[in-house]
Amino acid sequence: MLDGCGRTIDYLRLSVTDLCNYRCRYCMPEEGVPKRDHRDILSVEELVEIGRAAVRCGVKKIRLTGGEPLVRRGILDICRGLAAIPGLEELCLTTNGSLLAGLAAPLREAGVDRLNISLDTLRPARFSAMTRRGRLCDVWAGIAAAEAAGFRDLKFDTVLIGGFNDDEIEALTDLSRTHPWEMRFIELMPMGPCAEWDTHRFLPAETVLARVTDLEPIAPQGVARRYRLPGAKGTVGLITPVSHDFCADCRRIRVTADGKLKSCLHSREELPLRGLHGEALEAAIRQGIACKPAKHHLAERRSDTPRTMDQIGG
Ligand code: 5AD
Ligand code: SF4
Repeated sequence: MLDGCGRTIDYLRLSVTDLCNYRCRYCMPEEGVPKRDHRDILSVEELVEIGRAAVRCGVKKIRLTGGEPLVRRGILDICRGLAAIPGLEELCLTTNGSLLAGLAAPLREAGVDRLNISLDTLRPARFSAMTRRGRLCDVWAGIAAAEAAGFRDLKFDTVLIGGFNDDEIEALTDLSRTHPWEMRFIELMPMGPCAEWDTHRFLPAETVLARVTDLEPIAPQGVARRYRLPGAKGTVGLITPVSHDFCADCRRIRVTADGKLKSCLHSREELPLRGLHGEALEAAIRQGIACKPAKHHLAERRSDTPRTMDQIGG
């Protein structure tokens, strides 16, 4: 359906947990987030019911997020339930890759169409330092398993952080030469722990274009501006929530793991969906879409949302 600004909303990001097995420094405090009672988190049935109502409101694509969606018990049931919704064209999942080695094939069988994998660095020691507990070799094993399971057009998301991984821009874009992958760079958004970081950590995505001068622009896709290296199998994407807000092209709404509809990542507005069924659930989703804010204010001030990314779902 159309929102109040005339944008088509057809993409739901559905968070299935706010827990994560990593503690990325920009995203989570060392101690993690307090584990909530499982009754506070949407059940498998509620998630599928929300997915069904969202599809009736015009959603064509659902992306499962977290926290880390693969730590959620019942993730395969959730995928199966959503994949079976008539009218849903694409079921996607964003993961840190740590558990993909064991789950890629079952996810494929459960109906997941596409995967996005977070990859902030190619250096094992850096990876462990940033995630505070992750091992890069697990992610590589996950990537291999995803390809073996038949996932095509993998997308990799790198949060660009000054003084941390900006010296790996060339190495990351180089992966698109030999693999049919999209290597995407995302501007660090000032929310959660990184909101207090020094300004030199926040780099505009243009840094990538300045470092890799032979990138040729190709058609954009969703909110990503896209490029290709000459002769490359894959592509490079830039996602610029801070330097160029793409709010005019935004087609998404979000539902948090505790069942709140957020029509904008950076807004405080939340609409509780729990306890609503059938027509009432659909009406609430329509109301949330109708009230979607025109734009965010990240260029002027930090995010308005008191939640951190793990509590919203990327
Ligand atoms: N800015 C940009 N991206 C972020 N993510 C988490 N926190 C931030 C932030 N402050 C990204 C992760 C992952 C997805 C879950 O969200 O790197 O790709
Ligand atoms: Fe987990 Fe992703 Fe946050 Fe890292 S960025 S702690 S992998 S949710």
